[in-house]
Amino acid sequence: MATFTDLPCTLVYYIIFLLVQSSGGAADFARIISVCRDFHLYAEDGSVLRVVDFNMKMKSVKFYNFLNVKGLLVKCSEAGNVAAQHVLAKVILLSSTHLLLSEGKRKVFPFSDDPCDGLKLKRLIRDTNVPAQNSKVSSFMSYFSPLQVHTSDSPTRLVHHQLVKRFLINANLDDLIEMDILLRYGIRYLMSDTRENSTLIYCITKMVSLACYIGYLAKVNESFSDCLRWVREFLEVHSDRGFYKVSGKYTCLRHLVVRKCIMTAGLDSREALRDENFVEALRQEVSDKLGQSYIGLSEMRAAAVDHFENEVE
Ligand SMILES: *[C@@H]1O[C@H](CO)[C@@H](O)[C@H](O)[C@H]1NC(C)=O
Ligand SMILES: *[C@@H]1O[C@H](CO)[C@@H](O)[C@H](O)[C@H]1NC(C)=O
Repeated sequence: MATFTDLPCTLVYYIIFLLVQSSGGAADFARIISVCRDFHLYAEDGSVLRVVDFNMKMKSVKFYNFLNVKGLLVKCSEAGNVAAQHVLAKVILLSSTHLLLSEGKRKVFPFSDDPCDGLKLKRLIRDTNVPAQNSKVSSFMSYFSPLQVHTSDSPTRLVHHQLVKRFLINANLDDLIEMDILLRYGIRYLMSDTRENSTLIYCITKMVSLACYIGYLAKVNESFSDCLRWVREFLEVHSDRGFYKVSGKYTCLRHLVVRKCIMTAGLDSREALRDENFVEALRQEVSDKLGQSYIGLSEMRAAAVDHFENEVE
């Protein structure tokens, strides 16, 4: 019986080329090279490695599974696959956060007392009291340390802080929200400086909170009428309890309405929302604020990259 590998070589190559570029391509590719030796060839082919699709979310992926310097992620990254390098930067941020905690550096740096931070870390970072695991993370990280890279004779080796810097430059809103605490802790680990306060960490914290704010605001701006209808209907039912009870995804709009009413000499919010001029001004304000927040984020990002160059590199 004929098998897949009996197909003409160019056809197999073409199929693999399409497969790796489809969504989930990295996982599919990893699966086929693990079950069929004939495909190992493709795992060494730069033009395939460069286009493997690595578009994946933290929630669906355990980054600890990528701690393998001979694995597909590192191979693709070294072949120049930008999407792979982006994911690799996330793995490096996870690893450096892990090391920061396992090496007890948490005591050296003052950290926020925010209980949410502790919970998030528990969810993302494995137990740091397992020596075998700690040494695995540590040896993975050292592969990307500048010292090791510079003394190796491979021209394609990548340096951890360069990957993280590029991540900082390219991270979109979802990336920032997803990496939040790992970004702050991971970069802390990479910093040579142990000063108590760092402008870089301040900028990163700001970037993450701006990303969250933009996320809310963009939703309100996009479906302003739905949002407004919901707030109005809510007020009909809960008329005496007022605005402070409007919560969830509409909190953002509520804040804006309340603030606007206070600034307009104590307007009643329910009445205000019946006024077309008020509503039109509110709609404009949401859009303006969103625009300003995008600008704020890009300014904060530029500052972060600047400070990254001073405080890390
Ligand atoms: C760091 O702390 C010092 C003193 O505690 C303060 O003067 C300085 O402004 C702080 N720098 C930043 C970037 O917050
Ligand atoms: C807000 O939404 C409006 C209408 O959909 C759109 O025209 C505008 O560009 C949006 N504002 C921003 C800053 O994206």
